[in-house]
Amino acid sequence: MAKKVRSHYTCQSCGHQAPRWFGRCPACEEWNTCAEELPPPEDHRRPERRAPAAAMQPITEVSLEEAERLLTGLGELDRVLGGGIMPGSVVLVGGDPGIGKSTLLLQMAGQLAGRHQRTVYLSAEESGAQIRLRAGRIGSLSPELLVFSETNLASILEALERAEAMAVIIDSIQTIYYPQLESAPGSVAQVRECAARLVYFAKERGVPVFLVGHVTKEGTVAGPRTLEHLVDTVLYLEGERHHHFRILRAAKNRFGSTNEIGVFEMRERGLVEVGNPSQLLLAERAPGVSGSAVVCTIEGTRPLLVEIQALVSTSSFGYPQRVATGIDPKRLALLVAVLEKRGGYQITSQDIFVNVVGGIRVEEPSVDLGVALALVSSFLNRPIEPGTVAIGEIGLGGEVRPVDQIERRVAEARNLGFTRCLVARSNLKGWRRPEGMEVVGIGGLEAAQELALLQK
Ligand code: TYD
Ligand code: MG
Repeated sequence: MAKKVRSHYTCQSCGHQAPRWFGRCPACEEWNTCAEELPPPEDHRRPERRAPAAAMQPITEVSLEEAERLLTGLGELDRVLGGGIMPGSVVLVGGDPGIGKSTLLLQMAGQLAGRHQRTVYLSAEESGAQIRLRAGRIGSLSPELLVFSETNLASILEALERAEAMAVIIDSIQTIYYPQLESAPGSVAQVRECAARLVYFAKERGVPVFLVGHVTKEGTVAGPRTLEHLVDTVLYLEGERHHHFRILRAAKNRFGSTNEIGVFEMRERGLVEVGNPSQLLLAERAPGVSGSAVVCTIEGTRPLLVEIQALVSTSSFGYPQRVATGIDPKRLALLVAVLEKRGGYQITSQDIFVNVVGGIRVEEPSVDLGVALALVSSFLNRPIEPGTVAIGEIGLGGEVRPVDQIERRVAEARNLGFTRCLVARSNLKGWRRPEGMEVVGIGGLEAAQELALLQK
């Protein structure tokens, strides 16, 4: 064990250093910017020397070959990672407590170990027996899966040096600590120091490391986003806790796109990949109810049909409510204003609730038309014709605008048995309609409403 080194405290805003913790920086007078830091150490694990400097070379001679990726055995996870795990990469998996991070990574560990790729699952939260019980339930038992319950990072690194693992999982970064820092586990200083040392381990050994990070109340992984800069990839596991869907999303990915999502379902035996999420997302739809519209968004490489539900009801207070789940509240405010101003619907004084079914979050403007139609449908209490999908962005003038990849969206709608698509008029040219699908081009909201709503 290395000798005790005195740490110091640094203002993260101006760099002022002090021997003691401070609430407000004496130099720049910012609040809550103090973080504990170790002095630049002679410690042997620090990335100073060791690795020989890479030689300079002409850019034309740089090899284009990518290192071979390790497949996790979970197709959805592989896709979000950009086609498997990059050797030596560090992946942060964030999410609310209880959402399924441990389950996902234990399943991955079981798959890797099952293919004789030794994997270390370090848990600072659960005992070996607890992990074994869970692993047994989700089919992850394998002699090549090494479990380890430890919280001291110095001991962890020592053990990892010897383990010769192909992959390492640290569950979680907030519960381990580096003994030379005085701060408590989970503090910014500890989280950052531990992560930095694990990153160095990964790079030096070429062993991928997965870090589990609980999301704090503010919605960031503890340590004001410092962790996100340290690692190669940041994945978030999202979903409603009491809902069985789980969406895995990349917020940052040095080795792939950040548009891909992976869809899982939480069952008794762990997370199950969902091959056709559209079908599942629409499974509970009750056609003929007002305020429900189906839209088609593209997440990464995949079109996804989702149901938007809206409820517009008379407000009993002076200040009408706006609740948006799964869509951007500002976008909702904009659509409401357009409906009032251009469509002549007096809805700004009403309580408005919008929900994207299944705990999904949609960000594409292509859902605008669907959201607007759901609002109108609820306001007028007239259901939308059940075979219809609405695809289009809405401009401030109330006009319906074209979206990209229209052919793929319409094809997905056809695959799931829809028979009519409402699209922007300028989106009609240059692509082939699938058989059995009526595609209607519209210019503005008024026409859309005429076509979408069932006659009373
Ligand atoms: P967990 O992976 O422990 O969440 P996290 O690590 O993100 O805190 O998952 C906990 C929840 O998942 C728990 O409420 C029980 C549920 N669960 C299942 O429904 N099925 C399963 O097979 C497992 C392992 C967990
Ligand atoms: Mg956990």
